[in-house]
Amino acid sequence: MRKPFIAGNWKMNMNTDSAVSLAGGLAKELDGVDTVDVAVCPPFVYLRAVATALSSSNIALGSQNVYFEEKGAFTGEISCEMLKDVCCTYAIIGHSERRHVMGETDALINKKISAAINSGLLPIFCVGELLEERQAGTTNKVVSRQVKSGLEGICKERVQAVTVAYEPVWAIGTGLTATPDQAQEVHAMIRGLLADLYGNDVAQSMRIQYGGSAKPGNTAELMSQPDVDGLLVGGASLKVEDFAAMVKTVA
Ligand code: 13P
Repeated sequence: MRKPFIAGNWKMNMNTDSAVSLAGGLAKELDGVDTVDVAVCPPFVYLRAVATALSSSNIALGSQNVYFEEKGAFTGEISCEMLKDVCCTYAIIGHSERRHVMGETDALINKKISAAINSGLLPIFCVGELLEERQAGTTNKVVSRQVKSGLEGICKERVQAVTVAYEPVWAIGTGLTATPDQAQEVHAMIRGLLADLYGNDVAQSMRIQYGGSAKPGNTAELMSQPDVDGLLVGGASLKVEDFAAMVKTVA
């Protein structure tokens, strides 16, 4: 049985006060919830403050990105060890905004996933098609390519550190959510692909989150799908009451 996993991606929002207050509010609201894994992913600069605010809670911390090199002349980048040093458990890798706004490639994302696993960070590996790709009927082709390239060279013992997050780009921040059937169809395809690559036991053990305008009102129906194991939440993760309501719905 896969334990549900709900993560909040705060993106480029918050300041120190609001980040600490959101984290503190969630810690209070979600006290005692242990049937769902919960994580929040603040901007890098607030990780330490949020870690402190979450220190006596079950809520884990994640970053929104990571760099694959260990250290050195990589101005502006953050390493896996640095993230672990500020108490991160997870790292979001390959988010569509990094792919499409910052130009990250499948090859770069693969290096980041590999480095994260090697260091003991748990990657939340994002994949998803653009609107025009869905309209052209190439969703499965695009998402399979992203999954295969992102996981290239990663063996079955290591891949189980990964959570895959299916985030159709047309559903992110648009208010348009994939229908539960649309989400299930792609999640089942991804699990099938993982089974081809790693065997059915590994595929069945891995969690696949859905992301894209997930909110309290659509949480139950999305989570009712057999291959939807959790949510990666953007906008609705910025309000204590919304994010807490989603976690409680799943719990
Ligand atoms: P929204 O929930 O705001 O659509 O964002 C989804 C997302 O990109 C999470 O990583």
